Amino acid sequence: LTALLTRKDLAGKTVLVTAGPTREPIDPVRFISNPSSGKMGYALARAAEYRGGDVVLVSGPTALPDPANVKTVRVRTAGEMALAVFDHMGDADIIIKSAAVGDYRAVETAAHKIKKTADQLVLTLIKNEDILKSLGERKTHQILVGFAAETRDLKENAREKLVRKNLDMIVGNLVGHPASGFGSDTNRVTLFFRDGSCEPLAEMDKDAVAHIILDRVRERCL
Ligand code: CTP
Ligand code: CA
Repeated sequence: LTALLTRKDLAGKTVLVTAGPTREPIDPVRFISNPSSGKMGYALARAAEYRGGDVVLVSGPTALPDPANVKTVRVRTAGEMALAVFDHMGDADIIIKSAAVGDYRAVETAAHKIKKTADQLVLTLIKNEDILKSLGERKTHQILVGFAAETRDLKENAREKLVRKNLDMIVGNLVGHPASGFGSDTNRVTLFFRDGSCEPLAEMDKDAVAHIILDRVRERCL
């Protein structure tokens, strides 16, 4: 029984997980971000550690504690996340990008708090590097798992991202639905694979989703 409860099927594998939102500063007291709690990524990091993996967690700002036995690197902006991820990608066998990375940052960050003098304020934003796409271009042996957060056309959008970013698997998440995504303890996702197949999962807690993702990485990608 103990053997069943403690399957170390990721022993000897290094797993790099990203989690949480990013924050792009506007001025010293304001930022652009999103409602990601980090729960899905932390569940993945804990599950991979439980299964014997050497785990590195690159995390945006979250309220969650560092998982035990996991090297946790805290970052703030998408740029910082990119540096930390590229720093650790060489050692990784499996990379899972569950972070909700900000797509844009402010062109200029004010040195001092912006005062509310103007009636209208225009912020100019510039696109951030797509970390996952860069990983897909640079990868050598790594298994690459992405996420897709969509409010519609999940299948089409997830499949397009899987191909465009050169992934082995993508976890599709219909956000806005109460049972899934941002902040929730449960998630309802569909897994999409390189061969065009997909596997819709029932709503379940994020720890269970994490273990199924790792099961499929083992069975279908390694
Ligand atoms: N991602 C990333 N770097 C970015 C933006 C996204 O690494 N600058 C990763 C996320 O971590 C996720 C995947 O790309 O694993 C998909 O993120 P998502 O926001 O769903 O897709 P985008 O490619 O950003 O496209 P869009 O937001 O326009 O749908
Ligand atoms: Ca995005």
